Amino acid sequence: MTRFTPTPPIDDSENTPTNPCASTQTLSLVDVARERISRRAVLRSSAGLLVLGGGAACTTSGAADDTGRSARSFTEIARGIDGTHHVPPEYEAQVLIRWGDAVFADSPVFDPAHQSADKQRRQFGYNNDFIGYWSLPAEGGFDERALLAINHEYTTTRLMFPGMGTTNGTDVTRDISEIELAAHGGSVIEVVRRGGAWAVRTDSHYNRRLTGDTPMKITGPAAGHPRLQTNADPTGRGVLGTLNNCAGGMTPWGTYLMSEENINGCFGGRLPDGHAEAANHKRMGVPGGWFGWWRHIPRFDVGQEPNEANRFGWIVEVDILDPTSTPLKRTALGRFKHEGAESVIAPDGRVVVYSGDDQRFEYAYKFVSSKAWKPNDRAWNMKLLEDGTLHVARFEADGVVHWLPLVFGEGPLTTANGFNSQADVLIETRRAADLLGATPMDRPEDFEPNPKTGRAYLTLTNNSERKPDQVNAANPRPSNRTGHIIEIIEPGGDFAATESRWEILVLCGNPAKDQPTWNPATSENGWFGSPDNVAVDPSGNLWVSTDGNDDTGAADGLWSLDTHGEARATGRNFFRAPAGAEVCGPRFSRDGSTLFIAVQHPGDTDGATFEAPGTSWPDFKSGIPPRPSIIAIRRKDGAPVSA
Ligand code: FEO
Ligand code: CA
Ligand code: CA
Ligand code: CA
Repeated sequence: MTRFTPTPPIDDSENTPTNPCASTQTLSLVDVARERISRRAVLRSSAGLLVLGGGAACTTSGAADDTGRSARSFTEIARGIDGTHHVPPEYEAQVLIRWGDAVFADSPVFDPAHQSADKQRRQFGYNNDFIGYWSLPAEGGFDERALLAINHEYTTTRLMFPGMGTTNGTDVTRDISEIELAAHGGSVIEVVRRGGAWAVRTDSHYNRRLTGDTPMKITGPAAGHPRLQTNADPTGRGVLGTLNNCAGGMTPWGTYLMSEENINGCFGGRLPDGHAEAANHKRMGVPGGWFGWWRHIPRFDVGQEPNEANRFGWIVEVDILDPTSTPLKRTALGRFKHEGAESVIAPDGRVVVYSGDDQRFEYAYKFVSSKAWKPNDRAWNMKLLEDGTLHVARFEADGVVHWLPLVFGEGPLTTANGFNSQADVLIETRRAADLLGATPMDRPEDFEPNPKTGRAYLTLTNNSERKPDQVNAANPRPSNRTGHIIEIIEPGGDFAATESRWEILVLCGNPAKDQPTWNPATSENGWFGSPDNVAVDPSGNLWVSTDGNDDTGAADGLWSLDTHGEARATGRNFFRAPAGAEVCGPRFSRDGSTLFIAVQHPGDTDGATFEAPGTSWPDFKSGIPPRPSIIAIRRKDGAPVSA
């Protein structure tokens, strides 16, 4: 989410800590990362004399060689910032779909001066973030056919609507409120490729818009609980819409997981004095009051509907193959500011979902299903996320990470501490994790398993508020403005393990001032700050996008990042976003020949408005504001992107 939102500052939710815990551990594993750097330097200084054999840090997937070079051969692009996007010269980038573009054959033509909620419900939403990709069977002579599922995280009133000045929606009309609700949520679209060009198939029966008003069902241990009941829904099992969907996930059975993140901003008003939800809401930052919806739509006014906010902050599972299906909020995976929800199958068949809670001093989580996945039983698999155990990470200074179960009745999660059921534990996941002694992190963003290596990557985007006496082994830098990436090593590739190991893959930032731990092979363009979304390509290589790299004086973008061998921790600059944008959703097509990227909030520079944005990308037309868009990147020779 953008750093450039003058009024009110949306980023404050992620940057303002609400966790009263600040456990302190001694630091150590940074030294391991730094020691690696000095060892490499010694080896390289003798490179003409030494033959480096073997020594790969992990056991599978020869994604990089061991000579200190990255396996990726693209021509690295230069750091910088301007009004458009950049890819290496061997590649081409196509704008696939923009905010307001048609999702259906009958979608109205985009006209930002005359927008309506009805139109927006038929058009591609705003601020695209997560991208999921599922291949479809060949048909119609296309070279490739797939479904994309895309999240629309939030709306930026002053860039979407003319005449708003620098207001970001705190005092808007009911019409604008309803348009913004319709621009949230997600889109499912069929896309087809002929040669190098992709197109959206607007007549596909798979296409769907999910919005802040789409009827959804609440499932799992918290479904029906009195704390989820409202005047409109006395059952506590039906809710309208999903909001603030940031990153997300793809399941092996073909569903799309949407992560509700900064939901607090959607609520306004004032909770009645002494209300039982006061502490719970405070911990989640409710009401954030970023949007004016609550003035027009009673459910967003916590004074009128104190429980509505408890119905958001969950993971939502969507069956992408059935556009009439009811999306399911999966309470077993906990309620917090979910950045993402990427899944993987453990060796015993259980499903593991990793998820970060993106706010300063919040936690990293791992859900393990109770039952095992069955490869050929989709109906069975569709229920796997109804039941399981959510764990939170405690990073020990000796390189162990303990995954602590959040189970009612175990340890401190009892009535003595105000938990009367598993539903209470899940509704107040953050407080339960506090009591278990989880490690407060530097804003956990994406958390991505790599099935080829049995490892997972957790991006900690930044945390300038961490004081020197608050550092711990896994968050070793006070005033951490440029973030870092942690590697989780699951024992024997068992993603369901409750005791794993961890290492710092890299401390990010400018080598001249941030004391990062880049591999010395990293060029002056290859370093970055504020890692956010990551993707693993079909060869097992890691790619990292940023949100806040512009703090370092260059645009946000996408970098390849080596994870093993002598090239480990080498960054290479692959993509640069237009001014004001962050890069989200990196996702490779099944054969790796296309990389889809979500360019979020282009033109959202300091003081930007509809009339005076930081850039008019990608249309560059008078009267058309910048438009968040999905782009498709391919090598001009059609080879895999990471060739
Ligand atoms: Fe929506 Fe954590 O970024
Ligand atoms: Ca972010
Ligand atoms: Ca993010
Ligand atoms: Ca990801």
